[in-house]
Amino acid sequence: MIGVLDSGVGGFSVLREIHAHLPDQDITYIGDNAWCPYGNKSYPEIRERTFALSDFLIEQGAEVIVIACNSATIVAIEALRSHYLLPFIGMEPGVKPAAALTKTGTIGVLATEASLRGDKFHHLVARHAQNIRVITQPCPKFVELVEHGILKGPEVDAAIDEYTANMLAADADVLILGCTHYPFLRPALETRLPDHIRFIDTGDAIARRTEQHSLTPSDKPSIKILTTGIPEKIASLLQTLTPKIEATCTPLFLP
Ligand code: DGL
Repeated sequence: MIGVLDSGVGGFSVLREIHAHLPDQDITYIGDNAWCPYGNKSYPEIRERTFALSDFLIEQGAEVIVIACNSATIVAIEALRSHYLLPFIGMEPGVKPAAALTKTGTIGVLATEASLRGDKFHHLVARHAQNIRVITQPCPKFVELVEHGILKGPEVDAAIDEYTANMLAADADVLILGCTHYPFLRPALETRLPDHIRFIDTGDAIARRTEQHSLTPSDKPSIKILTTGIPEKIASLLQTLTPKIEATCTPLFLP
């Protein structure tokens, strides 16, 4: 079984890629909706949650865990890898592909506040974007909108305008969707922003990395979604966000 976790429903953007690449695998996804968002939480808090959810996924038989959350990856992936024996796959803002794609030499990084203040993020920029101008922007409203299933309309457009104004003014031509919630707003971003803007989303790359692990195929593959929030709400969000995925949604009670 593949374990996947996120602060909420953002990781569905990674889940759909994993399922598309590995349809014969059981997947157990945890959305920590009761604690969402992670983006404004302290590092010890994010780390503690990520360990608690990982412990649960391991108890359930996970062979690999995908941290489908940039914030949790930036804060906890190294600690997770040194603590547990099983492999952990993490997400991080796609600075390398963005730096390779830009023609203007300026890129924008849309991510959570927790991700943008992490050492791991600063190392990523220092390593892959040395001669590139990098403009960063936390986008908490994007997470809120996606958690409410609002993917277009005036509220979305206002948030897009607010968050992209500085990077567009600086002539950024590549924007990184550095939080797993944001790909659900990509259609709205593409409609709202000029045609020459390119977007980077690393969900597919993560699925390909997951595929490289030798995992036991399931006779009757299924997707289970567990949430520390309200399962009915998450089931309905699953329908809105990834209508092709069929899954059961059940509550998860963790201290
Ligand atoms: N989806 C998460 C990420 O990729 C976290 C969003 C949040 O909870 O603030 O960073």
